[in-house]
Amino acid sequence: MPVQRFFLSTEFSFGPGARKELTRLVQAEDRVIIITDAGLVKAGVVAMVEEVLQGRVAGLEVFSQVSVNPHAADVEAACRAARTCGATAVVAVGGGSPMDVAKMVSVLLTNPGTLADYQWERKPFTRPGLKLIVLPTTAGTGSEGTATAVIIDRDTKQGIVGDELLPRAALLDPELMASLPPAITATTGMDALTHAVEALVARGANPFTNALAAEAVRLIAKYLRRAFACGDDLEAREGMALASTLAGVAMDQAGLGVVHAMAGPLSSYYNVPHGLANAVVLPLGMRYNLVAVPEKYAFIAGLLGVPVQNLTSRAAALEAVRAVQELQADLQIRPTLKDDLRDPADIEKFAREAVAMFICRANPRVVSAADCQRLFAEVFVYKE
Ligand SMILES: [Fe+2]
Repeated sequence: MPVQRFFLSTEFSFGPGARKELTRLVQAEDRVIIITDAGLVKAGVVAMVEEVLQGRVAGLEVFSQVSVNPHAADVEAACRAARTCGATAVVAVGGGSPMDVAKMVSVLLTNPGTLADYQWERKPFTRPGLKLIVLPTTAGTGSEGTATAVIIDRDTKQGIVGDELLPRAALLDPELMASLPPAITATTGMDALTHAVEALVARGANPFTNALAAEAVRLIAKYLRRAFACGDDLEAREGMALASTLAGVAMDQAGLGVVHAMAGPLSSYYNVPHGLANAVVLPLGMRYNLVAVPEKYAFIAGLLGVPVQNLTSRAAALEAVRAVQELQADLQIRPTLKDDLRDPADIEKFAREAVAMFICRANPRVVSAADCQRLFAEVFVYKE
Protein backbone atom coordinates (compact mmCIF):
# COMPACT_ATOMS: atom_id res chain seq x y z
CA MET A 1 0.00 0.00 0.00
CA PRO A 2 1.36 3.44 -0.85
CA VAL A 3 1.64 6.03 1.91
CA GLN A 4 -1.56 8.08 2.06
CA ARG A 5 -2.20 11.53 3.43
CA PHE A 6 -5.15 13.32 4.99
CA PHE A 7 -4.80 17.05 5.63
CA LEU A 8 -7.27 19.64 6.89
CA SER A 9 -6.30 23.02 8.34
CA THR A 10 -9.74 24.64 8.34
CA GLU A 11 -11.64 25.51 11.51
CA PHE A 12 -15.39 24.82 11.28
CA SER A 13 -18.19 26.45 13.28
CA PHE A 14 -21.78 25.37 12.73
CA GLY A 15 -25.24 26.13 14.01
CA PRO A 16 -27.81 28.93 13.73
CA GLY A 17 -25.98 32.27 13.99
CA ALA A 18 -22.55 30.76 13.24
CA ARG A 19 -21.86 33.85 11.10
CA LYS A 20 -21.32 35.81 14.34
CA GLU A 21 -18.05 33.89 14.80
CA LEU A 22 -16.68 36.41 12.30
CA THR A 23 -16.26 38.85 15.17
CA ARG A 24 -13.69 36.48 16.68
CA LEU A 25 -11.99 35.67 13.40
CA VAL A 26 -11.35 39.18 12.06
CA GLN A 27 -9.45 41.92 13.87
CA ALA A 28 -10.33 45.59 14.26
CA GLU A 29 -7.47 46.57 11.92
CA ASP A 30 -8.64 44.20 9.14
CA ARG A 31 -9.93 45.58 5.85
CA VAL A 32 -12.45 42.99 4.71
CA ILE A 33 -13.68 42.28 1.20
CA ILE A 34 -16.86 40.21 0.94
CA ILE A 35 -16.98 38.16 -2.28
CA THR A 36 -20.47 37.13 -3.33
CA ASP A 37 -23.02 37.30 -6.14
CA ALA A 38 -25.76 39.78 -6.99
CA GLY A 39 -28.58 37.32 -6.18
CA LEU A 40 -27.42 36.95 -2.58
CA VAL A 41 -27.19 40.73 -2.16
CA LYS A 42 -30.76 41.02 -3.46
CA ALA A 43 -32.00 38.21 -1.22
CA GLY A 44 -30.64 40.06 1.83
CA VAL A 45 -28.22 37.24 2.72
CA VAL A 46 -25.12 39.43 2.33
CA ALA A 47 -26.67 42.06 4.61
CA MET A 48 -26.92 39.41 7.36
CA VAL A 49 -23.13 39.01 7.18
CA GLU A 50 -22.37 42.73 6.74
CA GLU A 51 -24.38 43.43 9.88
CA VAL A 52 -21.97 41.30 11.91
CA LEU A 53 -18.91 43.15 10.60
CA GLN A 54 -20.22 46.72 10.46
CA GLY A 55 -18.29 49.06 12.71
CA ARG A 56 -15.95 46.29 13.88
CA VAL A 57 -13.33 46.42 11.13
CA ALA A 58 -11.17 49.13 9.53
CA GLY A 59 -12.77 48.66 6.09
CA LEU A 60 -15.64 46.70 4.55
CA GLU A 61 -16.21 46.32 0.80
CA VAL A 62 -18.57 44.05 -1.13
CA PHE A 63 -17.66 42.55 -4.52
CA SER A 64 -20.87 41.03 -5.87
CA GLN A 65 -20.11 40.37 -9.53
CA VAL A 66 -19.26 36.67 -9.37
CA SER A 67 -20.96 34.78 -12.25
CA VAL A 68 -22.94 31.56 -11.87
CA ASN A 69 -19.96 29.65 -13.25
CA PRO A 70 -16.87 31.68 -12.35
CA HIS A 71 -14.49 32.58 -15.16
CA ALA A 72 -10.91 33.83 -15.04
CA ALA A 73 -12.31 37.33 -15.64
CA ASP A 74 -14.31 37.10 -12.37
CA VAL A 75 -11.12 36.28 -10.48
CA GLU A 76 -9.26 39.16 -12.12
CA ALA A 77 -12.06 41.66 -11.37
CA ALA A 78 -12.31 40.47 -7.76
CA CYS A 79 -8.52 40.73 -7.33
CA ARG A 80 -8.59 44.32 -8.62
CA ALA A 81 -11.36 45.19 -6.14
CA ALA A 82 -9.42 43.55 -3.30
CA ARG A 83 -6.21 45.44 -4.17
CA THR A 84 -8.06 48.75 -4.48
CA CYS A 85 -9.49 48.48 -0.98
CA GLY A 86 -6.23 47.13 0.47
CA ALA A 87 -7.95 43.96 1.68
CA THR A 88 -6.31 42.07 4.54
CA ALA A 89 -9.10 39.49 4.88
CA VAL A 90 -11.40 37.81 2.35
CA VAL A 91 -14.90 36.67 3.30
CA ALA A 92 -16.88 34.53 0.84
CA VAL A 93 -20.66 34.44 1.04
CA GLY A 94 -22.26 32.04 -1.42
CA GLY A 95 -22.10 28.68 -3.10
CA GLY A 96 -19.09 27.17 -4.84
CA SER A 97 -18.64 30.05 -7.27
CA PRO A 98 -18.04 32.90 -4.79
CA MET A 99 -16.04 30.55 -2.55
CA ASP A 100 -13.75 29.48 -5.39
CA VAL A 101 -13.21 33.06 -6.57
CA ALA A 102 -12.49 34.12 -2.97
CA LYS A 103 -9.94 31.31 -2.61
CA MET A 104 -8.08 32.58 -5.67
CA VAL A 105 -8.23 36.21 -4.51
CA SER A 106 -6.80 35.18 -1.16
CA VAL A 107 -3.73 33.49 -2.72
CA LEU A 108 -3.21 35.80 -5.72
CA LEU A 109 -2.92 38.82 -3.43
CA THR A 110 0.05 37.33 -1.60
CA ASN A 111 1.72 35.18 -4.28
CA PRO A 112 3.54 36.52 -7.35
CA GLY A 113 2.24 35.87 -10.86
CA THR A 114 -1.16 35.49 -12.49
CA LEU A 115 -4.07 33.07 -12.26
CA ALA A 116 -2.87 31.34 -15.46
CA ASP A 117 0.51 30.55 -13.85
CA TYR A 118 -1.21 28.52 -11.15
CA GLN A 119 -4.09 27.19 -13.26
CA TRP A 120 -2.27 26.14 -16.39
CA GLU A 121 1.45 26.11 -15.51
CA ARG A 122 0.66 24.39 -12.20
CA LYS A 123 3.05 26.68 -10.35
CA PRO A 124 2.92 25.90 -6.61
CA PHE A 125 1.93 28.62 -4.16
CA THR A 126 4.90 29.75 -2.08
CA ARG A 127 3.10 31.92 0.48
CA PRO A 128 -0.08 31.52 2.52
CA GLY A 129 -3.01 33.54 1.21
CA LEU A 130 -4.81 36.40 2.94
CA LYS A 131 -7.03 35.28 5.80
CA LEU A 132 -9.99 33.52 4.13
CA ILE A 133 -13.31 32.87 5.87
CA VAL A 134 -16.15 31.25 3.96
CA LEU A 135 -19.88 31.22 4.69
CA PRO A 136 -21.62 28.73 2.38
CA THR A 137 -25.19 29.54 1.38
CA THR A 138 -25.89 26.24 -0.39
CA ALA A 139 -25.34 22.71 0.89
CA GLY A 140 -23.77 20.95 -2.07
CA THR A 141 -20.40 22.03 -3.40
CA GLY A 142 -18.39 21.38 -0.24
CA SER A 143 -15.83 23.94 -1.41
CA GLU A 144 -15.57 25.17 2.19
CA GLY A 145 -13.59 22.01 3.01
CA THR A 146 -11.52 21.55 -0.14
CA ALA A 147 -8.04 22.58 -1.20
CA THR A 148 -9.38 23.16 -4.71
CA ALA A 149 -10.86 26.03 -6.72
CA VAL A 150 -12.57 25.43 -10.06
CA ILE A 151 -12.43 28.32 -12.51
CA ILE A 152 -13.45 28.37 -16.18
CA ASP A 153 -10.77 29.51 -18.60
CA ARG A 154 -10.09 28.64 -22.25
CA ASP A 155 -13.61 27.08 -22.33
CA THR A 156 -12.55 24.51 -19.74
CA LYS A 157 -13.43 24.03 -16.09
CA GLN A 158 -9.92 23.79 -14.71
CA GLY A 159 -9.16 23.13 -11.07
CA ILE A 160 -6.36 24.79 -9.10
CA VAL A 161 -5.09 22.75 -6.17
CA GLY A 162 -3.00 23.65 -3.13
CA ASP A 163 -3.22 23.40 0.66
CA GLU A 164 -3.11 27.23 0.65
CA LEU A 165 -6.64 27.19 -0.80
CA LEU A 166 -8.12 25.68 2.35
CA PRO A 167 -10.06 28.42 4.16
CA ARG A 168 -8.82 29.55 7.57
CA ALA A 169 -12.41 29.06 8.82
CA ALA A 170 -15.80 27.98 7.50
CA LEU A 171 -18.97 29.16 9.22
CA LEU A 172 -21.92 26.85 8.50
CA ASP A 173 -24.92 28.99 9.38
CA PRO A 174 -28.27 27.41 8.47
CA GLU A 175 -29.93 30.83 8.75
CA LEU A 176 -28.07 31.86 5.58
CA MET A 177 -29.59 28.88 3.75
CA ALA A 178 -33.25 29.24 4.76
CA SER A 179 -34.17 31.21 1.62
CA LEU A 180 -32.64 28.73 -0.84
CA PRO A 181 -35.50 27.59 -3.16
CA PRO A 182 -36.60 23.90 -3.06
CA ALA A 183 -35.35 23.04 -6.57
CA ILE A 184 -31.84 24.31 -5.79
CA THR A 185 -31.91 22.68 -2.36
CA ALA A 186 -32.68 19.42 -4.18
CA THR A 187 -30.00 19.55 -6.87
CA THR A 188 -27.24 20.92 -4.63
CA GLY A 189 -28.13 18.26 -2.06
CA MET A 190 -27.80 15.58 -4.74
CA ASP A 191 -24.39 17.02 -5.61
CA ALA A 192 -23.36 16.51 -1.98
CA LEU A 193 -24.72 12.95 -2.06
CA THR A 194 -22.74 12.28 -5.23
CA HIS A 195 -19.55 13.56 -3.55
CA ALA A 196 -20.14 11.25 -0.61
CA VAL A 197 -21.03 8.17 -2.66
CA GLU A 198 -18.18 8.65 -5.13
CA ALA A 199 -15.72 9.26 -2.26
CA LEU A 200 -16.81 6.04 -0.53
CA VAL A 201 -16.16 3.88 -3.60
CA ALA A 202 -13.19 5.87 -5.01
CA ARG A 203 -9.80 4.26 -5.34
CA GLY A 204 -8.32 6.92 -3.08
CA ALA A 205 -10.77 6.22 -0.24
CA ASN A 206 -9.12 5.82 3.18
CA PRO A 207 -10.39 5.52 6.75
CA PHE A 208 -10.51 9.31 7.24
CA THR A 209 -12.50 9.98 4.07
CA ASN A 210 -14.74 6.94 4.63
CA ALA A 211 -15.73 8.15 8.09
CA LEU A 212 -16.64 11.60 6.79
CA ALA A 213 -18.42 10.41 3.63
CA ALA A 214 -20.44 7.77 5.50
CA GLU A 215 -21.74 10.35 7.97
CA ALA A 216 -22.54 12.65 5.03
CA VAL A 217 -24.71 9.95 3.37
CA ARG A 218 -26.49 9.29 6.66
CA LEU A 219 -27.21 13.00 7.21
CA ILE A 220 -28.43 13.48 3.63
CA ALA A 221 -30.79 10.50 3.93
CA LYS A 222 -32.15 12.05 7.12
CA TYR A 223 -32.34 15.72 6.17
CA LEU A 224 -32.42 16.39 2.42
CA ARG A 225 -36.15 15.69 2.00
CA ARG A 226 -36.92 17.87 5.01
CA ALA A 227 -34.79 20.79 3.78
CA PHE A 228 -36.47 20.49 0.37
CA ALA A 229 -39.99 20.36 1.81
CA CYS A 230 -39.52 23.11 4.38
CA GLY A 231 -36.72 25.58 3.73
CA ASP A 232 -36.86 27.16 7.18
CA ASP A 233 -36.36 23.83 8.98
CA LEU A 234 -33.06 24.97 10.47
CA GLU A 235 -32.22 21.57 11.92
CA ALA A 236 -32.49 20.05 8.44
CA ARG A 237 -30.53 22.94 6.90
CA GLU A 238 -27.77 22.48 9.45
CA GLY A 239 -27.71 18.72 8.83
CA MET A 240 -27.36 19.35 5.11
CA ALA A 241 -24.67 22.01 5.64
CA LEU A 242 -22.64 19.53 7.68
CA ALA A 243 -23.24 16.74 5.16
CA SER A 244 -22.07 18.90 2.30
CA THR A 245 -18.90 19.90 4.14
CA LEU A 246 -18.07 16.34 5.25
CA ALA A 247 -18.67 15.08 1.71
CA GLY A 248 -16.56 17.91 0.28
CA VAL A 249 -13.57 17.09 2.48
CA ALA A 250 -13.96 13.39 1.66
CA MET A 251 -14.18 13.76 -2.10
CA ASP A 252 -11.35 16.28 -2.25
CA GLN A 253 -9.02 13.76 -0.67
CA ALA A 254 -10.45 10.39 -1.82
CA GLY A 255 -11.26 11.35 -5.41
CA LEU A 256 -14.44 11.29 -7.45
CA GLY A 257 -15.44 9.03 -10.35
CA VAL A 258 -17.50 8.40 -13.43
CA VAL A 259 -20.54 10.39 -12.27
CA HIS A 260 -18.67 13.67 -11.92
CA ALA A 261 -16.69 12.92 -15.07
CA MET A 262 -19.95 12.56 -17.02
CA ALA A 263 -21.46 15.64 -15.39
CA GLY A 264 -18.54 17.68 -16.80
CA PRO A 265 -19.52 17.75 -20.51
CA LEU A 266 -23.23 17.93 -19.64
CA SER A 267 -22.59 21.21 -17.85
CA SER A 268 -19.98 22.66 -20.18
CA TYR A 269 -21.81 21.97 -23.46
CA TYR A 270 -25.49 21.86 -22.47
CA ASN A 271 -25.41 24.12 -19.44
CA VAL A 272 -27.10 21.46 -17.31
CA PRO A 273 -26.66 22.64 -13.69
CA HIS A 274 -23.94 20.61 -11.98
CA GLY A 275 -26.23 19.20 -9.28
CA LEU A 276 -28.90 18.17 -11.78
CA ALA A 277 -26.33 16.46 -14.01
CA ASN A 278 -25.02 14.49 -11.03
CA ALA A 279 -28.51 13.64 -9.81
CA VAL A 280 -29.44 12.13 -13.16
CA VAL A 281 -26.17 10.26 -13.66
CA LEU A 282 -25.72 9.01 -10.06
CA PRO A 283 -28.03 5.94 -10.16
CA LEU A 284 -26.63 4.94 -13.55
CA GLY A 285 -23.06 5.31 -12.34
CA MET A 286 -23.81 3.30 -9.18
CA ARG A 287 -25.42 0.54 -11.24
CA TYR A 288 -22.41 0.50 -13.57
CA ASN A 289 -19.85 0.34 -10.73
CA LEU A 290 -21.79 -2.20 -8.72
CA VAL A 291 -19.93 -5.24 -10.10
CA ALA A 292 -16.59 -3.79 -8.97
CA VAL A 293 -17.42 -3.04 -5.33
CA PRO A 294 -20.80 -4.55 -4.35
CA GLU A 295 -19.91 -4.56 -0.62
CA LYS A 296 -19.31 -0.81 -0.67
CA TYR A 297 -22.66 -0.11 -2.26
CA ALA A 298 -24.29 -2.52 0.21
CA PHE A 299 -22.78 -0.39 2.99
CA ILE A 300 -24.17 2.74 1.29
CA ALA A 301 -27.62 1.10 1.16
CA GLY A 302 -27.54 0.76 4.95
CA LEU A 303 -26.53 4.42 5.33
CA LEU A 304 -29.46 5.38 3.13
CA GLY A 305 -31.80 3.60 5.54
CA VAL A 306 -32.40 0.39 3.56
CA PRO A 307 -32.83 -2.68 5.81
CA VAL A 308 -29.96 -4.82 4.48
CA GLN A 309 -29.55 -7.50 7.19
CA ASN A 310 -30.89 -10.45 5.19
CA LEU A 311 -29.68 -9.37 1.78
CA THR A 312 -26.64 -10.47 -0.19
CA SER A 313 -24.14 -7.70 -0.98
CA ARG A 314 -25.38 -7.57 -4.54
CA ALA A 315 -29.06 -7.37 -3.57
CA ALA A 316 -28.29 -4.66 -1.00
CA ALA A 317 -26.21 -2.74 -3.55
CA LEU A 318 -29.13 -2.81 -5.99
CA GLU A 319 -31.31 -1.47 -3.18
CA ALA A 320 -28.89 1.46 -2.80
CA VAL A 321 -29.50 2.34 -6.46
CA ARG A 322 -33.24 2.10 -5.91
CA ALA A 323 -33.06 4.28 -2.78
CA VAL A 324 -31.25 7.01 -4.74
CA GLN A 325 -33.91 6.85 -7.48
CA GLU A 326 -36.61 7.17 -4.84
CA LEU A 327 -34.89 10.19 -3.31
CA GLN A 328 -34.57 11.75 -6.75
CA ALA A 329 -38.32 11.23 -7.37
CA ASP A 330 -39.26 12.68 -3.96
CA LEU A 331 -37.17 15.76 -4.76
CA GLN A 332 -38.99 16.15 -8.09
CA ILE A 333 -35.79 15.81 -10.08
CA ARG A 334 -36.37 14.45 -13.56
CA PRO A 335 -34.77 11.03 -14.08
CA THR A 336 -33.62 11.72 -17.63
CA LEU A 337 -32.15 14.47 -19.78
CA LYS A 338 -33.85 13.10 -22.89
CA ASP A 339 -35.08 16.50 -24.03
CA ASP A 340 -31.60 18.01 -23.77
CA LEU A 341 -29.82 15.98 -26.46
CA ARG A 342 -29.05 18.37 -29.29
CA ASP A 343 -27.04 16.12 -31.57
CA PRO A 344 -26.74 12.31 -31.27
CA ALA A 345 -23.06 12.65 -32.23
CA ASP A 346 -22.52 14.44 -28.89
CA ILE A 347 -22.86 11.13 -27.05
CA GLU A 348 -19.57 9.91 -28.46
CA LYS A 349 -17.86 13.26 -27.90
CA PHE A 350 -19.05 13.52 -24.30
CA ALA A 351 -17.97 9.94 -23.56
CA ARG A 352 -14.52 10.56 -24.98
CA GLU A 353 -14.10 13.69 -22.85
CA ALA A 354 -15.48 12.12 -19.68
CA VAL A 355 -13.19 9.09 -19.89
CA ALA A 356 -10.16 11.33 -20.43
CA MET A 357 -10.91 13.35 -17.28
CA PHE A 358 -8.48 13.02 -14.41
CA ILE A 359 -11.28 12.36 -11.89
CA CYS A 360 -12.39 9.29 -13.86
CA ARG A 361 -9.17 7.53 -12.82
CA ALA A 362 -10.41 7.30 -9.22
CA ASN A 363 -13.51 5.37 -10.32
CA PRO A 364 -13.61 1.84 -8.85
CA ARG A 365 -14.36 0.28 -12.27
CA VAL A 366 -12.13 1.00 -15.28
CA VAL A 367 -14.36 3.03 -17.58
CA SER A 368 -14.05 2.32 -21.30
CA ALA A 369 -15.19 4.88 -23.86
CA ALA A 370 -17.74 2.36 -25.19
CA ASP A 371 -19.23 1.82 -21.71
CA CYS A 372 -19.34 5.54 -21.11
CA GLN A 373 -21.11 6.04 -24.42
CA ARG A 374 -23.77 3.52 -23.34
CA LEU A 375 -24.17 5.37 -20.05
CA PHE A 376 -24.63 8.69 -21.84
CA ALA A 377 -27.20 7.06 -24.13
CA GLU A 378 -29.08 6.03 -20.97
CA VAL A 379 -28.85 9.56 -19.55
CA PHE A 380 -30.68 10.85 -22.58
CA VAL A 381 -33.39 8.19 -22.77
CA TYR A 382 -33.38 6.79 -19.29
CA LYS A 383 -36.75 6.24 -17.65
CA GLU A 384 -37.69 4.69 -14.34
FE1 LIG B 1 -19.88 18.14 -7.44
